[in-house]
Amino acid sequence: MKLAVIGTGYVGLVSGVCFSELGNEVICVDNAASKIELLNNGEVPIHEPGLKELIASNTAAGRLSFTTDLAAAVSSSEIIIIAVGTPSLPDGKANLAYIEQAAEEIGRAIDDYKVVVVKSTVPVGTNEKVADIIRNHSVASFDFASVPEFLREGTAVRDTLNPDRIIIGTASDRAAELLTELHRPLTDQITITDVRSSEMIKYASNAFLATKISFINEIANICEKVGADVEEVAKGMGMDRRIGSSFLKAGIGYGGSCFPKDTQALIQIAGQMDYDFKLLKSVVEVNRDQRFNVIRKLDDLLGDVAGRTIGIWGLAFKPETDDVRDAPAFEIIEALLERGAQIKAYDPIASNNFEKIFKRSEVQYCESAQEAAQDADALCILTEWKEFIDIPLTDIQKWLKTPNLIDGRNIYKEEDLEATPFAYYSIGRPKMNNGVKETNPILSF
Ligand code: UDX
Repeated sequence: MKLAVIGTGYVGLVSGVCFSELGNEVICVDNAASKIELLNNGEVPIHEPGLKELIASNTAAGRLSFTTDLAAAVSSSEIIIIAVGTPSLPDGKANLAYIEQAAEEIGRAIDDYKVVVVKSTVPVGTNEKVADIIRNHSVASFDFASVPEFLREGTAVRDTLNPDRIIIGTASDRAAELLTELHRPLTDQITITDVRSSEMIKYASNAFLATKISFINEIANICEKVGADVEEVAKGMGMDRRIGSSFLKAGIGYGGSCFPKDTQALIQIAGQMDYDFKLLKSVVEVNRDQRFNVIRKLDDLLGDVAGRTIGIWGLAFKPETDDVRDAPAFEIIEALLERGAQIKAYDPIASNNFEKIFKRSEVQYCESAQEAAQDADALCILTEWKEFIDIPLTDIQKWLKTPNLIDGRNIYKEEDLEATPFAYYSIGRPKMNNGVKETNPILSF
């Protein structure tokens, strides 16, 4: 099939490349000429495992191309996929300016029957608005559908090629048929539904996953108080198939380009309909507070962080990505600087992106994990990069001035800490001191 994908961000680029891998002819469109030039030179603007290789093989096979010419791409394609950004506005609502602009341009370019698909995450009702805009500018007929994307950064190619399900929201049998044929090679789990339910499925899924994370983080906080181990609790809970074991990893809260934005947007959508989404508001509040868990532990460990050197490992919101959008590291480092700490930070690939966005210049960005830990009063692990997991604790001990370790992602096990001199704080597990687990006194109620 012939496809045009508008927008070469995470969703658009990965979807376009994966559709070409399935044998379709795909033209990826972006109005940022510099991005298109980069892609045409075989370079990839984002770090995503496996993507560069697929771009190279599919462009060489003549199935994948990149252009700024939206009209030409639309005119030569049967299916148009809109995958432009919908960033948050200051009040939390999704900014639909890019999608509306794309709709107008698509409308002007349609010269024959097309199926227009919205893949961007958009508030309920947006697909219908997009269709209206296209209709107002178009002379030819088209059908429209909402096909939300559920890929995760860092595993985007794998997720796109092996989806759990495909949701197709459309009122048109012709569009449903064409889109089922397009997605059939990926999975048999294809659900056809109405447009508004499809739009809602995306928000509800992300909000539910965010809820699972905030829930386990609160359980972790209680575990710390009662002397239980959240890793054991999550394992025991996850064995119940009704609960499931995924997204029960306690830590310093979720970040990234989707959960923070989509939870806020869903709260706004509900509010506009006079519905107060109390549960989701609490999920967001718990997530914000969880970031300060690290600070509370540092205060407990050092008394006062003023004038102390704190090593930070990990700036990306999760491993295998250089994306720092809404990463917990921003608020944690900001709070530490406010309290007068000196910060030495290291991330395998995200430091440049972090430095570009972070407003303060006091951070010392390091070239290696060792440099960030060297002579520090404490080390905080904020992202669970494999590079960190592979570093022996004996090395960390040698590098630090004092063996104080705050593990915001629970990358070490109790047995790793035995026979070490660390003061070790993790999330939702007992503290350890000199290899010995701190035991709680008998609980009295
Ligand atoms: C998410 C959704 O998973 C995906 O379906 C959607 O399309 C986009 O948003 P992504 O943001 O790439 O994907 O990453 P994900 O792996 O879901 O992690 C999001 C955040 O939650 C990260 O900060 C991660 O550290 C955190 N997280 C995840 C936890 O703290 N605990 C968990 O158990 C899982």
